[in-house]
Amino acid sequence: MKRDFLHITDFSKEEIDGLFELSARLKKEVKEGTPHHLLREKTLAMIFQKPSARTRVSFETGMFQLGGHALFLGPDNLGLGKREATRDLARLFSRYNDLIMARVFEHDHILDLAKYASVPVINGLTDYNHPCQIMADIFTVLEHRGHLDDLTLSFIGDGNNVFHSWMYLAQRLPMKLNLACPEGYEPDEKLVETTRLAGLSKVTVAHDPFDIVAGSDVIYTDVWASMGQEEEAADRAKVFQPFQVNSKLMKAAGEQAYFMHCLPAHRGDEVTDEVIDSHRSIVFDEAENRMHVQKAIMVILMGAP
Ligand code: CP
Ligand code: NVA
Repeated sequence: MKRDFLHITDFSKEEIDGLFELSARLKKEVKEGTPHHLLREKTLAMIFQKPSARTRVSFETGMFQLGGHALFLGPDNLGLGKREATRDLARLFSRYNDLIMARVFEHDHILDLAKYASVPVINGLTDYNHPCQIMADIFTVLEHRGHLDDLTLSFIGDGNNVFHSWMYLAQRLPMKLNLACPEGYEPDEKLVETTRLAGLSKVTVAHDPFDIVAGSDVIYTDVWASMGQEEEAADRAKVFQPFQVNSKLMKAAGEQAYFMHCLPAHRGDEVTDEVIDSHRSIVFDEAENRMHVQKAIMVILMGAP
């Protein structure tokens, strides 16, 4: 049976622990210059309906380091769901490639790709979630804190795809997961309920960042308008202003708090220069770890550690 990585819960707690170990090993091997061609001659088809810097470069570079090759298929190349049915593209790439990674708008498109592909499919972000990002983020937290015990993460901003993946992770690892968002920008209610019912983590949704940040290990934010929401950007900029992560908010969180952001950041909007450039900011460690963790995900899906 082929395996996909569409939601963080596709991996068990034990598999997540194994993923951390493999990511650390592969990271060390890159730094040492030790070859690790675990996916020699394998190919990855990368489908992008939206722009990307990190996801594209980290997958493409990572696949090269693993001895394989990645193909970039941008928004103008395929016409996913328009020029050709998603299911037909899934079947087609399964004939050429060993793995598929896709960044799409509609979550149903990634589900369809996975359903009809006979090779593993990796979710590189949808309007609903972003599992590779949060796997890299939690690995980064583990590296910096040395452990994941008693973790409190406060997410400031939109209850969006990135926050959704944090909730999926909270179904696998215990944490206090806080969100401060404007009214009307809450995350998917069903997912909040499922996460609470999983019984492992405490999820709090508030509307004032100062109500939740004190004592947090991580203050996390993301853009106020995600890809595909460009037309709402001006309206959102007004509503989200009180949700800016600035020095005052970081001070209220406490000196122990790291600052994280999936990037790209809109400096001066959701985060000030002072915070993102501060010594508590670990945003480029997060970005780097995308590559190490995604390599481990590909190796695990291919059953080749
Ligand atoms: N964080 C992230 O996914 O970045 P890109 O949109 O640049 O890939
Ligand atoms: N929420 C953002 C994340 C970008 C990596 C978006 O979907 O545009």
